[in-house]
Amino acid sequence: VAGNLITASPANDTISALLALDASVDLVSVDGTRTVALQDFYIGVRRTVMRPNEMMTRIAFPALTAGDTGLFAKVGLRSAQAISVVHAAIVVSRSEDVITNARIALGSVAPTVILADTSAHLIGHTLTDDVIRRCSQAASEEVNPITDGRASAEYRSQIVRVLVARMLGAIKAGTESTAWPDRVITLSDGRPSTIPPSLSIDAHDEFTVSVNSNEVVGSHGTDETLLDWIRTNARSEDGDLLTGTKEGCAEGECGACTVHMDGQAVLACLVPAAAAQGRSVTTVEGLSAASDIQLQDSLVASGAVQCGFCTPGFVMSASSLLSEHDALATAEIRDGLSGNICRCTGYESIVEALVAVDTGAAR
Ligand code: FES
Ligand code: FES
Repeated sequence: VAGNLITASPANDTISALLALDASVDLVSVDGTRTVALQDFYIGVRRTVMRPNEMMTRIAFPALTAGDTGLFAKVGLRSAQAISVVHAAIVVSRSEDVITNARIALGSVAPTVILADTSAHLIGHTLTDDVIRRCSQAASEEVNPITDGRASAEYRSQIVRVLVARMLGAIKAGTESTAWPDRVITLSDGRPSTIPPSLSIDAHDEFTVSVNSNEVVGSHGTDETLLDWIRTNARSEDGDLLTGTKEGCAEGECGACTVHMDGQAVLACLVPAAAAQGRSVTTVEGLSAASDIQLQDSLVASGAVQCGFCTPGFVMSASSLLSEHDALATAEIRDGLSGNICRCTGYESIVEALVAVDTGAAR
């Protein structure tokens, strides 16, 4: 989360959620500690007040109390691993029905995530349809979006109006949580993480990772991602390099590089190799449980093995999904695979293969 805040992209989702929650951050250096309100932290596109010698050590926000409510909503081109087209976070405090405080944070619509002035239009009012209409319209006039590959400026402005109106409407109706899924898909087997008690920071020290149950040693001096490091250092029992994990985008958008780290599906292109110190990593070559063999057979039988780039990532995500929950609804399967892109758009046969395994039809 600290990395997401510091990267300071106007599209970073955690910024708006924490801005709406009135968060502050502690910045520590040899000169001491200073606390900065998140709303004073950003000074431009990807620019913050943080000094080069500072480290963010704490993120805090006031606890919500009875009468406080809020929600976060996002429009993206996909439902996972998608950079926001627009996102918004709203927190309101009410006494009886009257709004006593309101914070509306909007992302991907200005050089930084912004706290909308229009929040003030809510204070002292109850949430009527008219108040919601005026507030959402004012919010769409306040933003200053750009046109890029994801959406036009006009579309973004309109979406701000629609999002804010829907979010305030949900708060008015008390339906903030009705769209939440019955069970969350995390692509994790639930095993506790084995984060080592202390991490070496000496570039000359070595680290060890268990890759498919074989110990692989690296140097903390490496600046490689886990993806590159595995592909050039980890070997099978036969001595072959483990190149089954693929690089599709190298920036966390496509899922081709998915591996399991301590039972959690992670994108190896986003994990620094040294951060895997002391952990257990499984790559597509290491999936040997009977259930994983059955999954792979089902993918073959359904014609779902479509190309060498996407398939390893799909297999890893699917393996996590099938071990996390039983009796998966098709919507849950699509949700669980939504972080993996198939560039040929052949998702149907992949979903079919998972349904067959989950329902026992593949046995
Ligand atoms: Fe890692 Fe695309 S290569 S997400
Ligand atoms: Fe790779 Fe569809 S499976 S493009």
